[in-house]
This record gives sequence, C-alpha cells and structure tokens, in this order.
Amino acid sequence: MDNSSLDPNLAGQLQKLQQKYAAMGQDLSSYLDGLLYADYLTYWDYIHLDTLLSLQNPKTQFPDEKVFIIYHQITELYFNLVLWELEQIAEKENLQETFFVERLDRINRYFELLENSFTVMVDGMEKEQFLKFRMSLLPASGFQSAQYRVIEICCTDMINLVSRDNRESFQEYSDLEQQVEHLYWRSGATELASGKKTLTLQQFEEKYLKKFKETGMRYRAKNLRKIYLQFFPESEPVKKRLRQLDQLANVLWPLAHLKSAARYLKLDPEDIKATGGTNWQKYLPPRFQRIQFFPELWTASETEEWGKAGVLKAIGN
Ligand code: HEM
Repeated sequence: MDNSSLDPNLAGQLQKLQQKYAAMGQDLSSYLDGLLYADYLTYWDYIHLDTLLSLQNPKTQFPDEKVFIIYHQITELYFNLVLWELEQIAEKENLQETFFVERLDRINRYFELLENSFTVMVDGMEKEQFLKFRMSLLPASGFQSAQYRVIEICCTDMINLVSRDNRESFQEYSDLEQQVEHLYWRSGATELASGKKTLTLQQFEEKYLKKFKETGMRYRAKNLRKIYLQFFPESEPVKKRLRQLDQLANVLWPLAHLKSAARYLKLDPEDIKATGGTNWQKYLPPRFQRIQFFPELWTASETEEWGKAGVLKAIGN
C-alpha cells in the first residue's frame, strides 16, 4: 500500500487496522468497502429509541397508567445499573480500594436517585385513576421485581435475608436451601384475612426461586459483604459507603416506596382491595423486617431503631 500522500496519522491507523484484520485472516479492503456504504450511526438507532418508546402498553384508558408503567421501567433500569456495578466488583481481579469505593459511590448514587424520584409515584398520579387502573393489573405487582431480589443476594449473605424470627436459628454457613425457605419476603404479599400466599407471591416463587438459589450459590464468596470482610475490614471509606448503602436500600428507598402505598392504599378498606387485600402494612415498614446487608456495621441500638425514624411520617401517622 502506497501511503506516501496520506496524512502520517492516517497511514499509521491504516497499518494498525491492517494488522488487526490480518491477524484474523481478514482482508481490510473489503471491510473498508463496507464502511463506505454503511450509514452513519444515529442517536435514535444507538439507544433503540423507537423500541424503548414502544414498550409502554397501558391496560386501561386512564392517562396516569402511563406514569405508573414508565416509572417502574425507570426503576428497573436503575436496578440494572446497580447490578452491573455489583457484578464488576465481584469479578474484579486484584480489587483495589479506590475501585471498590468508586463503584460503591455509583451504587449509592443510583439508590439516592430512586429514593428522591419516588415522588413521581407519591404525588404524580391521581388517586382516583390509580385505584381504578390498578385493579386491571392484578395480580401483577412491583413485589415481583426479580432484580430487586438479586441485588439483595449480591449485596449480602443469604442469612441476612432470612425473616427476622428465623434469622437467629440459622448459622451463617448452614444450608442455603434452608435459608431460602425462610427468606423474609416470602411472608410478604400474603392475604390479610387468611395468611395465605397471594397468587402474586406464588407466581413469583415459581418463576424465580431456582434462579435466586443459583445466584446465592454463585455469590456465596463474592457478595459485597464477603468482599468487604475479606479485603477491607478496617477501611473507614468503605465502611462509610456500606452504611450509606444499607440505609438507602433497606430504609430510605423502602420508606419512599411505603409513602406511595400509604397514599393510595391506606384509608378506605375498599381501597386496600387494590392490592388484593394483603398484609402490606405489617410487611413493608423497614422496622418490621430489619434487613441489614452489613449487620456488623451497626450498633445494637442502631439495629433496634432500624427504620423507625421517618416511618410514622411516611405512613401519615
Ligand atoms: C403507587 C405506587 C406503588 C404502590 C401503591 C405500591 C404498593 C406495594 C405494596 C402494597 C407492596 C407489598 C406487596 C403486596 O402487599 O402486594 C409492594 C411491594 C413492592 N413494590 Fe411496590 N408499590 C408502588 C410502586 C412501586 C414501584 C415504582 C416499584 C419499583 C419497581 C415497586 C417495587 C416494589 C417492590 C420491590 C416490592 C417488595 C418490597 C419488599 O419486599 O420489601 N413498587 N408495593
């Protein structure tokens, strides 16, 4: 190739490209032809905008149902970003404190955004519309968010996700299958009157329980708590961020979420039917479950007070 009239930078780039393609037995010139005919990349194709905006399909005529759908989708996307960071931490070879701290900051930032934006639900829909369109969506519920559960499993050991009554009776390293039987959320979404599992819970367990067990096995030695205890047990910057994460994921987001349940479902017993009449008032407040991803970072009195501040305000008492 005579590159004499070419800009030396360009010639250098061409040479590198040729080497790259030759290494795979490919002819660069054919690929350059392809480049000649290819369209320029557009913003809308790159982020699949048309597809993205085709994914909102309300089941009713109520305009606010679109707000409800899109905000759930936004939340799932942020959950996905959280999982992306958790995975990178878990897979990182020779993990350094700076990397760890920066990734924890990202995770906390996503949760803060979710906490602060929950007003879109709390204040952003007409109650009359909500109570009607919600009935058309039964038995589907945000309760069935699998990503939320996977985040929990990637953040801590399964023992810390066991219901409070049963947590004491397990050893941390006892059978994971047994711990999964007593996961705290398996007593949520139960019928208020009979205590029976709702269809919401039954279908969720049927679809995802196996995946949760597998994830628990995979993250046994590399969940956030394990990584912290193994590599950075004395690091103050790490501990500070893990405490923030515990608050955000297990108190502040749940409280922001609880406010929406209180706003739409609390007053009238008829309204409560909009969730199928579940035990949510006894289940959702964080002080009942007392889930902590990093229990060793909290004092006995902090644990005792877990989620208390703010909860009464959140449910309007
Ligand atoms: C007006 C808005 C909302 C209301 C009234 C509401 C109501 C509820 C209720 C009552 C429960 C308890 C389960 C049950 O009894 O059926 C629940 C659980 C849950 N919801 Fe929502 N929700 C709302 C928005 C959202 C959004 C936007 C998300 C985001 C994905 C979400 C995710 C969840 C999750 C993850 C749980 C399980 C929480 C836990 O196990 O601690 N919810 N929701």
